[in-house]
Amino acid sequence: MFTDFVKAWKPRTNVDLYEIENGAIDHEVTLWRALRTAAPWEGKDLLDPGCGTAYWLPRYAKSTRTLYGVEPDTTLLEAAASRMADATVLHGSAECIPLNDSSVDVIHARFAYFFPSPSNDCTAGLRETLQVLRPGGSLIVIDNDQQDGDFAELLRAGNTSEHQGPGDFILRWWQDRGATTKKIMSSWTFNSPEDLAKVVAMEFPNNTADTWLDAHAQERTLVRLPRTHHQQSGPKPKTLPHSKCPVTDG
Ligand SMILES: C[S@@+](CC[C@H](N)C(=O)[O-])C[C@H]1O[C@@H](n2cnc3c(N)ncnc32)[C@H](O)[C@@H]1O
Repeated sequence: MFTDFVKAWKPRTNVDLYEIENGAIDHEVTLWRALRTAAPWEGKDLLDPGCGTAYWLPRYAKSTRTLYGVEPDTTLLEAAASRMADATVLHGSAECIPLNDSSVDVIHARFAYFFPSPSNDCTAGLRETLQVLRPGGSLIVIDNDQQDGDFAELLRAGNTSEHQGPGDFILRWWQDRGATTKKIMSSWTFNSPEDLAKVVAMEFPNNTADTWLDAHAQERTLVRLPRTHHQQSGPKPKTLPHSKCPVTDG
């Protein structure tokens, strides 16, 4: 069992809706442009830890040299493997990545694992991801801005931002580790207001989004600002003590 693995209820129990959510992300392509500028993957070896059902892997597959997805949840892992024949999808977690040290150039972790808070220490996963990065490689973690835009407002209404760390906890956490954080102007754009409402209700359960949804009943677009935390891997000593975790059922 991976010690740091928490089953993600959204892609697990709402597979179709989670696909709709992913399909709504970043039609402006500002996030993709920012990723490509910060850590390009053309001809490189890329890892997506916590890849879920591998929704985003096809975008990378067009130009990477080697593409890896790592996922601890066996249900999602199966879905990922059947979506992505041309990627290597592995059972593992951010803490336990079944790859050799210094074996990838770029790691993009999308809304997965890295939600540091006073009660959620992500140090082990950060250490492991940096370990599999080649010297000079880039780790980019994508999460949600907690200050601006509709999504941040919803996080506050649902008290969810507190679980992500009070105030600027996450920003300081990354800053203390030498990462650079950027806020990206982007949004979710759905085919219909009904789809938007269903996804928001899934993201913010227990009716915590009702007030926001009532005020935005006809809208298909929601302002959501993803953030990127970018850390570069420094030079590594030739031999590092590094015990890989056993891979068992997640
Ligand atoms: C919100 S989903 C995001 C999935 C995917 N990255 C995407 O953007 O569609 C969070 C993912 O993180 C995975 N996860 C949970 N604990 C993890 C861990 N310790 N290490 C890596 N991934 C983890 C979940 O199983 C799930 O696939």
